[in-house]
Amino acid sequence: MAAGLLIRSPLPVVLFCVLAAAVAAAAAAAPNVTSDEEYWAARAEAARASNLAAYVSDPVAAMNRFNAETLRATTRRSLGRYQGPCMATNPIDRCWRCRADWAADRRRLARCARGFGHRTAGGAGGKIYVVTDASDDEMVIPRKGTLRYGAIQDRPLWIVFSRDMVVRLRQELIVNHNKTIDGRGAQVHIVGAQITLQSVRHVIIHSVHIHHSAPHSGGMIRDSKRHYGLRTRSDGDGISILSSSNVWIDHVSMYRCSDGLIDVVNGSTAITISNSHFTKHDHVLLFGASNDNPQDAAMQVTVAFNHFGKGLVQRMPRCRYGFFHVVNNDYTHWQMYAIGGNKNPTIISQGNRFIAPDDPNAKEVTKREYTPYGEYKEWVWKSQGDVMMNGAFFNESGGQNERMYDQLDFIPAKHGSYVGQLTRFAGALNCRFGEPC
Ligand SMILES: *[C@@H]1O[C@H](CO)[C@@H](O)[C@H](O)[C@H]1NC(C)=O
Ligand SMILES: *[C@@H]1O[C@H](CO)[C@@H](O)[C@H](O)[C@H]1NC(C)=O
Ligand SMILES: *[C@@H]1O[C@H](CO)[C@@H](O)[C@H](O)[C@H]1NC(C)=O
Ligand SMILES: *[C@@H]1O[C@H](CO)[C@@H](O)[C@H](O)[C@H]1NC(C)=O
Repeated sequence: MAAGLLIRSPLPVVLFCVLAAAVAAAAAAAPNVTSDEEYWAARAEAARASNLAAYVSDPVAAMNRFNAETLRATTRRSLGRYQGPCMATNPIDRCWRCRADWAADRRRLARCARGFGHRTAGGAGGKIYVVTDASDDEMVIPRKGTLRYGAIQDRPLWIVFSRDMVVRLRQELIVNHNKTIDGRGAQVHIVGAQITLQSVRHVIIHSVHIHHSAPHSGGMIRDSKRHYGLRTRSDGDGISILSSSNVWIDHVSMYRCSDGLIDVVNGSTAITISNSHFTKHDHVLLFGASNDNPQDAAMQVTVAFNHFGKGLVQRMPRCRYGFFHVVNNDYTHWQMYAIGGNKNPTIISQGNRFIAPDDPNAKEVTKREYTPYGEYKEWVWKSQGDVMMNGAFFNESGGQNERMYDQLDFIPAKHGSYVGQLTRFAGALNCRFGEPC
């Protein structure tokens, strides 16, 4: 900010004085001036404690709660023929969608997450902030009314949009903690660069379209009210989640980004990805980016009620180390495989529908990357109540490790034959004010 003042200053003498004053003020306010690398390392270190606190020691209990609730919420009547004006076919949607007052009570959504991300508060503790300006021209001092201005605030905010808009990001959008990006009531497209959640907690992204994210070389970008700094290259993911916890992505439509649609890396945990619609992309979901990050064993992610649709190739998800509950998703298209990974991830696949492509070499749902059988036979990859179509098959494994999970302790999920109904409204919604959504 001081730089902006200096450039506008007409006289060299004044300039010098302002500079001196600014340096003195900065020194007084922040005696420890750190480089950006140090800044982000410190943020990651601080986030590690909250990530560990968000990790649950009994993931099977969490999984069972999810399944029990889905079974309770999906009676025959709720899954019947669509009669409008509203039909909520799964417990997340049933929590809010059929209430005509959804717009007056937007924060109710924060109570509706299920699965490992169920405690995600987003901006529930804060005010509503309305995005009125679709532009994204200022990376260091974002203009009030823009999405970036809301996203970097330190206080909790529930971010909504005044009208349909295309927000064209000029650089990665760094989202601060305790934020909800809530596109309900408008058709909101976020394009051009990735959304980054780095060392933050409590972020909800809901009912927006995210696509055409491209890599950027980086530069000076603000990440919070009190800090901006030099960012290096961003890859052009749709959403990149690093060292973060309590994240919920719901009813998002995503396609055609440069790198992954969603990357969850560096020990991020307590995450739910639900009700979303993924299309036209190669690398869809990456959970754990490196073999050298054993701290990713703390990753716990629920992938539920999503539709993996047309034009997808692989990684739905690709996993390393952590614990992944992949439940009640509809896999209608893949070219290479659906669920894969390496480094001993635990993958519990329940109540999904897998429709294999016609290619006789791509019928297998699963793929173990770069690992001999002798090693991967011990990885717990289980399929229960999944529907397999067009020759799809899931190659299970578990070996000795399976004893950690007594199969009798698993509550079965809603069966895969209901997946068409459960995911019927996947993707960004078209909610109208004053009506059930
Ligand atoms: C500056 O950093 C050092 C080492 O990290 C720390 O001990 C000290 O408390 C910091 N000083 C201030 C004023 O934050
Ligand atoms: C990843 O986590 C490690 C330790 O948990 C930390 O040192 C590193 O800075 C983090 N990297 C990023 C990009 O957050
Ligand atoms: C963020 O939300 C969590 C959960 O509601 C809350 O405990 C925490 O205090 C919030 N953080 C801030 C800075 O308000
Ligand atoms: C599953 O994996 C094992 C070990 O590699 C292999 O022997 C078996 O043929 C696979 N099953 C199928 C149906 O491909």
